Amino acid sequence: MAKLAINGGEKVRTKPMGVAWPIYDDREAEALTEVLRSGKWGSTSGSKVREFESAFAEFCNAKHALCLTNGTAALEVALRAAGVGPGDEVIVPPYTFIATASAVVMVGGIPVFVDIEPGTMNIDPAQIEPAITERTKAIIAVHIGGRPADMDGVMDVAKKHDLKVIEDACQAHGASWRNQPVGSVGDAGAFSFQSSKNINSGEGGAVVTNDGDFYLRCYSLVNVGRIPEGEWYQHEYLGSNYRMTEFQGAILPIQMSRWEEQQKRREENAAHLDSLLAEIDGISPLDDDPRVTRNAYHLYIFRYHSDRFNGKPKSRFLQALSAEGIGASGGYTPLHTSGMFQRLSKRLQEIGFYGGPAIDYAAVELPATQNACDNEACWFPQSRLLGPKEDMDDIAKAIKKIRESCEEL
Ligand SMILES: Cc1ncc(COP(=O)(O)O)c(C=O)c1O
Repeated sequence: MAKLAINGGEKVRTKPMGVAWPIYDDREAEALTEVLRSGKWGSTSGSKVREFESAFAEFCNAKHALCLTNGTAALEVALRAAGVGPGDEVIVPPYTFIATASAVVMVGGIPVFVDIEPGTMNIDPAQIEPAITERTKAIIAVHIGGRPADMDGVMDVAKKHDLKVIEDACQAHGASWRNQPVGSVGDAGAFSFQSSKNINSGEGGAVVTNDGDFYLRCYSLVNVGRIPEGEWYQHEYLGSNYRMTEFQGAILPIQMSRWEEQQKRREENAAHLDSLLAEIDGISPLDDDPRVTRNAYHLYIFRYHSDRFNGKPKSRFLQALSAEGIGASGGYTPLHTSGMFQRLSKRLQEIGFYGGPAIDYAAVELPATQNACDNEACWFPQSRLLGPKEDMDDIAKAIKKIRESCEEL
């Protein structure tokens, strides 16, 4: 008789897991109605976005925060404000959402991908220096899944080569590196408030920085070239319109007020799950690092080792887990292998742009990223960590069952 549910055995879990996301109540409804009735729907007439910016800057321990349409725009604006333009190279990890690297292309720059650390899935600082050329302007450090990247390593190499550091903190609200909230460790941080994010307004984003001039450049880029005390038709710089609406500005403080309590629950459940998974031969949680003083757990990422599961690929393991009633994602594919970057390399070669082998994306080999994508990385969303502790027990139970019956896989 088959034991595994994928082969007709009994499921470990029959009811749904985690909690419905987003979480909201009458407070959001009242705040939205207030904005509606005020007639002040845009941030140029209302005060909600400006108020949230102050609160979010404080949350990030940064001097300035500027809200805008989304995290993708936050990256583009931060890159432009950092002086990245046509032909400039920006070092990025390939294990991230497309916007980290496509934002570089959108401002005319060239992403140069460097590999990740296998145990954290974040950019490997040791790989950065060999990728630097005379065209390198900046590094984007992504805090993947909300776990801070090695900011000591990134900042050291950036200082040595006089490069700007932009943190892609789109998944990392409230995470901290050596007790410093992410986003304010480098020159600037980009955040997303898109629907799935731990602080969310459907769509939305923010740039945070401690540098007043950088903030002013971002302000103009977001506000069609205006300056803070300028006239309505006074356009001093080139900019676009990336402004957030007051509806988003009204919801965000309420979402943020729930964050601490939700975050404690995520941390408790993640710690419990870490300890349960550590006992299963063939599964490992991400590496511990005492410098990570807070992980935002936008994703709970763990590593699958197929050699301990009868050599079966990750895809088969995930199917088996899903059959047990526990959905999980296999995560990203390496960004440099995506159609967009393959086409970009071809185009750059056609126009005779010499960028060296680093931008012949078809030839780039990044084994740790490839291995994470193809073989190891498995994810649960943050809302899974908001369920009861027993949900974690069921996750571990299902994985253990698959491991113990892996000859059936
Ligand atoms: C790592 C990372 N960077 C950038 C973004 C882009 O944010 P948005 O979807 O708000 O444009 C996201 C959002 O999914 C992300 O996860």
